[in-house]
Amino acid sequence: MNNFDFHNPTHILFGKGRIADLANQVPSGAKVMILYGGGSAERTGVLGQVRNALSGHELVEFGGIEPNPRFATAIKAVELIEKNDVTFLLAVGGGSVIDATKFIAAAAKYDGDAWDILTSGGAVIKAALPFGTVLTLPATASEMNSGSVITHAEKGAKLPFRSPHCYPVFSILDPELTYTLPSRQIANGVADAYVHIIEQYLTYPADACVQDGFAETLLRTLIDLGPKALKTPEDYDIRANLMWTATLALNGLIGAGVPQDWSSHMIGHEITALNDTDHARTLAVVLPALMHDQRGPKREKLLQYGANVWDIREGDEDARIDAAIKATRDFFESMGIKTRLGDYNLASPEIDHIVAALKDHGMTALGEHSAITPEDARRILQAAA
Ligand code: NZQ
Ligand code: ZN
Repeated sequence: MNNFDFHNPTHILFGKGRIADLANQVPSGAKVMILYGGGSAERTGVLGQVRNALSGHELVEFGGIEPNPRFATAIKAVELIEKNDVTFLLAVGGGSVIDATKFIAAAAKYDGDAWDILTSGGAVIKAALPFGTVLTLPATASEMNSGSVITHAEKGAKLPFRSPHCYPVFSILDPELTYTLPSRQIANGVADAYVHIIEQYLTYPADACVQDGFAETLLRTLIDLGPKALKTPEDYDIRANLMWTATLALNGLIGAGVPQDWSSHMIGHEITALNDTDHARTLAVVLPALMHDQRGPKREKLLQYGANVWDIREGDEDARIDAAIKATRDFFESMGIKTRLGDYNLASPEIDHIVAALKDHGMTALGEHSAITPEDARRILQAAA
């Protein structure tokens, strides 16, 4: 196992009716900005509950944060914060609203050009406004990590950053808030969490028994409960287990002390920057092709994954690896997520564009061995066609 630091300061308030606890979590006397997305939080009544719970606070609201949140929108929120002397932010929504809130919290305390935050991967952040979240879509674990991904539409860039200043102070996880999700977003959430686990697990053996065992349990839970959530969307226990699984998938715990490979994400981000394909769907396209392409470096973990996650124990090694990759693709497809580039109207010209964008964005040494180049990504994308 590798050396690691693990410090996760986010206070989780999990379960039914927890929005009522907001008043105790937001500092008294704070001037609060509530941030939300395109209107689902208003329609579902979540915003109403939040306003009620915070009726003792002075509130400012900022709506209209897009899925794959935009830099320009976030900058408008920063201006409103300055104008109104806001001291605390509250994100109400999915990963996009929470990611935007992290960027806004950092940009509000940054004197230079906010674009620096993205080009430095967050290194320039020295402070951020404190913020909490009310999660409505289990998928990204943004509610319990310090990362964020922001799209700059004009620059054709979707770039990640992270900073120890960008952990939420608290996050409210009420599984009942997820009942209103359309099937497409339930499936996206399951697939995104699945690939988060894979990117921290499917590398090479590092003698990390606990991290591997946790990762395998989380994967099996998604395989078992994902399809059930689509069939019986108002089953509380299914939703509760999925919600906690998605949070644990990327709150730092299973990634501590192990090699990681974020290449499916980095290649997938370029697809979304190109045509706004849902984040999770880009991963479902890239991952099976990447597993196939990287079967050499990932051999031992692919065999372990096949055995411990899919119970594939018969046949020679290559046959077991093929079966594990097929099971992964079939799982995404069974959740209604297409796994071929052609399903998203992407072909050779777009592959050229994605490869060029990876070079432009410095994504030239991806994977657990820093050995996956943009030309390797081209081969992987061609295999995903
Ligand atoms: O915008 P509104 O109207 O609120 O609707 C949203 C949106 O259209 C809707 N929605 C959310 N909760 C709902 C709901 N509809 C009905 N009922 C509810 N309870 O769902 C749509 C998608 O929301 P979004 O927040 O975009 O989805 P998700 O949580 O999947 O977030 C995706 C973003 O997170 C980034 C992705 O790149 C993408 O930009 N990621 C962030 C990560 C992180 N911070 O650690 C890691 C991930 O790998 C990911 O990259
Ligand atoms: Zn993701």
